[in-house]
Amino acid sequence: MWNAMRTFEAGDFSSWLREGNFIIEPFATYYVLLGFHAIGMAVVVGICFMLSSRILGFQLVVSMAAARHMLRLAWWGFWLNLASGVLLILAQPRREFMTELFWVKMAVIVWAVLAMRSMGRGLAAVRPVADARGGVVELAPWSLRVTALMVDLGWLLAIVSGRLVGYTQPPPPL
Ligand code: HEM
Repeated sequence: MWNAMRTFEAGDFSSWLREGNFIIEPFATYYVLLGFHAIGMAVVVGICFMLSSRILGFQLVVSMAAARHMLRLAWWGFWLNLASGVLLILAQPRREFMTELFWVKMAVIVWAVLAMRSMGRGLAAVRPVADARGGVVELAPWSLRVTALMVDLGWLLAIVSGRLVGYTQPPPPL
């Protein structure tokens, strides 16, 4: 497996991801991919933080239906993150897999994704109740509030560990 990865890294595709240009100079492919990775991160993490603030009781004017709609956009951010992340791995798979924090990051991403799915199910289950002034309000139960905090914590740890991967990587193996 290790040898197969070494051969792959020496090939044209992996070399282009690592050292080539994205169409024209000076747009290095690796940095363009990091750019897409950052955009995906901003979309998924930004929307999840916004939704969790709604779940925790801020911006009560936002309906749960609107929140669920936004969650769909958050998933698009995640898919962009996944696609760019896989290409970043293919640029130097051995170096990534040798970095301990890379595996920590993968574990917290699994955690955040599971919590995000559960947050989506929780949003769908919230029912409107009458408030003191005769209106209706959609209040999230405590279980959903805890899930929203788990989503936020998962993404925060993914950001921190993601950046630390770059600082703690060993030199490229021979
Ligand atoms: C979904 C699967 C993902 C994969 C396979 C993946 C993979 C990667 C890889 C290979 C790198 C380059 C690491 C390096 O050598 O410096 C990277 C960078 C990074 N990733 Fe991810 N990633 C994923 C999702 C995420 C998510 C969800 C977040 C945050 C919410 C995130 C945050 C970061 C950060 C902060 C960096 C460093 C960016 C920089 O150096 O400018 N990643 N990721």
